[in-house]
Amino acid sequence: MIGLRQILVSSLLLGAEVYAQTDSLCDKYTKALFTNNTAENQYTLLVKVVNTALIGNYTAGAKVKVNGILVPGMFMGQNVSLLHYFNGGLVSTNRGSKASAVNFIDDGGAIPLALDKPANGNTSNQYKLITHLYEFFGALLQCSMYGKTGFPAYSGNANMYDVHKYMNLDPTEMGYFIQEVGLSAASFGVAEADILAVAGALNGTFNQRCAPPVAVIPSAQAGLQAICINTACPLATSAMCSSYSTAVEPATATSTSGPQLTDLAPQLSSIAAGEVTKTEMMSSGATSGTMMMTGSMATTVTDVITSGGSVITMVRTTEVPVTSVPNAGAVQTVAPLMVAVAGAGLVGQMLL
Ligand code: HEM
Ligand SMILES: *[C@@H]1O[C@H](CO)[C@@H](O)[C@H](O)[C@H]1NC(C)=O
Ligand SMILES: *[C@@H]1O[C@H](CO)[C@@H](O)[C@H](O)[C@H]1NC(C)=O
Ligand SMILES: *[C@@H]1O[C@H](CO)[C@@H](O)[C@H](O)[C@H]1NC(C)=O
Ligand SMILES: *[C@@H]1O[C@H](CO)[C@@H](O)[C@H](O)[C@H]1NC(C)=O
Ligand SMILES: *[C@@H]1O[C@H](CO)[C@@H](O)[C@H](O)[C@H]1NC(C)=O
Repeated sequence: MIGLRQILVSSLLLGAEVYAQTDSLCDKYTKALFTNNTAENQYTLLVKVVNTALIGNYTAGAKVKVNGILVPGMFMGQNVSLLHYFNGGLVSTNRGSKASAVNFIDDGGAIPLALDKPANGNTSNQYKLITHLYEFFGALLQCSMYGKTGFPAYSGNANMYDVHKYMNLDPTEMGYFIQEVGLSAASFGVAEADILAVAGALNGTFNQRCAPPVAVIPSAQAGLQAICINTACPLATSAMCSSYSTAVEPATATSTSGPQLTDLAPQLSSIAAGEVTKTEMMSSGATSGTMMMTGSMATTVTDVITSGGSVITMVRTTEVPVTSVPNAGAVQTVAPLMVAVAGAGLVGQMLL
């Protein structure tokens, strides 16, 4: 059985770029962006890619604009809004064979994400979901330190159908999610061929209705992984529809406790204005939706990395005291092809 990890490995090996075959995508880009291929740096890569996919680009020097999964956007000319799956607006979460409404944006919303954290605290729904996403995508991208000290192994449900079975997600919603993951990677300078490999693997593993069971997480047993279960989703080869229940459209929750777009928008504006930067005092005592603003400890560092014949320029914010205003408009090298691909939404269009 060809699993997602095998597809990623084959795509890597078939690619024209010459890289040490032992380097997974996770290791390759950890080295490219942070030099030292440590568990902590691999985890930081996942934090940045997942957080950017969720709230849009927040790191100075982003090579492409990322709208964000939590923000309304477009896929293939259609409007998409996924927020109500995350804020408890829909009765769509699987809590023990019954659908319920759960707010997953209950611990600071976008602000901690823009600070490279999953949440303000570590006991919330937000913390649990987002750390699970770091772990899960770390496994998919084959981080060499996955499961070792500094990079916890995935501790969520390894069966993606189970997790998403009450959401009735369709190709447009799935396509938008995968598109934002791809654009997030592009915003950090990940090569187009590598993005297409990841998007293609996500498409093949999770975006095909009635897909037969596979193990996605190393060490997990084979399980049902189709997330796209709406009747509009393309049917998998060797489809096993009898293993899946009939998908039902989730009900609208009677009351929504979570943040609405009108609550997230001021956070995103504040992030865009550069008002959310790292300091020690900010995380303490912060409550959901609280704005935390200071620029006193921020500066930008420009790393220019040459790898595989292409130059990656990465501008990042670090916690170094500064006496002058940081140069927010630092040098950017944008590969024209990547901009063309991302700009035209071709990464997304490849998926349908
Ligand atoms: C390639 C596509 C996707 C992948 C790989 C993926 C992966 C995951 C993973 C690993 C979790 C954590 C599960 C756990 O903690 O046990 C999760 C949870 C969740 N996902 Fe997805 N997801 C995808 C698409 C989507 C889409 C399109 C939506 C729609 C809005 C969505 C909404 C959610 C929600 C609301 C949760 C929390 C559910 C819970 O904790 O019960 N996902 N997803
Ligand atoms: C890499 O790690 C080594 C040992 O931990 C350290 O001495 C070195 O400064 C690190 N290099 C970078 C670029 O962080
Ligand atoms: C998408 O939403 C915008 C803003 O609400 C609206 O003007 C536009 O007509 C919508 N487009 C489609 C294709 O539904
Ligand atoms: C969670 O946060 C508390 C308070 O900040 C801290 O004492 C504890 O070590 C943290 N636990 C984990 C698992 O990170
Ligand atoms: C996504 O899957 C469909 C089959 O359902 C396939 O036709 C399409 O080429 C795939 N896209 C990518 C980028 O792999
Ligand atoms: C996101 O990236 C785009 C394109 O580089 C840039 O114009 C925009 O200012 C960035 N947004 C944030 C919040 O950094």
